[in-house]
Amino acid sequence: MTPPIVERALALAAARGFTRSCMAEVGALLHVLAARRGILRPGEIGTGCGVGAAWIVSALAPGVAFFTAEIDPDQAAATRELFAQDEAVTVLSGDWRETLPLEAPFDFLFLDAAKQRPDLDGEATLALLTPGATIVLDDLTPGRTGTDPVRDFWLTHPDLVATELLLTPKSAAIVAVKVKA
Ligand SMILES: C[S@@+](CC[C@H](N)C(=O)[O-])C[C@H]1O[C@@H](n2cnc3c(N)ncnc32)[C@H](O)[C@@H]1O
Repeated sequence: MTPPIVERALALAAARGFTRSCMAEVGALLHVLAARRGILRPGEIGTGCGVGAAWIVSALAPGVAFFTAEIDPDQAAATRELFAQDEAVTVLSGDWRETLPLEAPFDFLFLDAAKQRPDLDGEATLALLTPGATIVLDDLTPGRTGTDPVRDFWLTHPDLVATELLLTPKSAAIVAVKVKA
């Protein structure tokens, strides 16, 4: 069943013509991972219209604070309004590189913006995570040939254990756990 807050986030995205929300398959993965015992500091890079955030927060234990960063101020304001009834949700307006480190470390992170250049942002993203934290990246193309800096970074980093999951015939995700400080 799709949680009501996810339905509202999807409606917001439709109303705003925003087409980059995460797929339901990704949402279901986020929902399951967010529901695990012990998740106390979840976050997200790239709020969009709050669809991924809604999948996450609808699975969190009551009162667990959630932080999501969005660089587009209009988008951040609209999504802040979406979650206005949930005081555990904070939508941070601005570049995640400036906003999220102030709320770190996170024990669960959905990386959904600025992920194409791990040579620039990968280590800064890792620095947001506490040891044992889980990070999820979506939108990988299955069977892609040639070099892939995203896979190279997140699947082979010595501080991570990681795997790639096929979510649909055309889309895969990486789930990784930080195993070193
Ligand atoms: C793929 S969409 C996010 C979709 C959302 N996570 C979801 O699951 O529905 C990426 C979002 O990241 C935002 N973004 C891009 N660069 C950013 C940055 N440096 N800091 C924060 N947000 C950023 C974009 O404006 C866009 O709204």
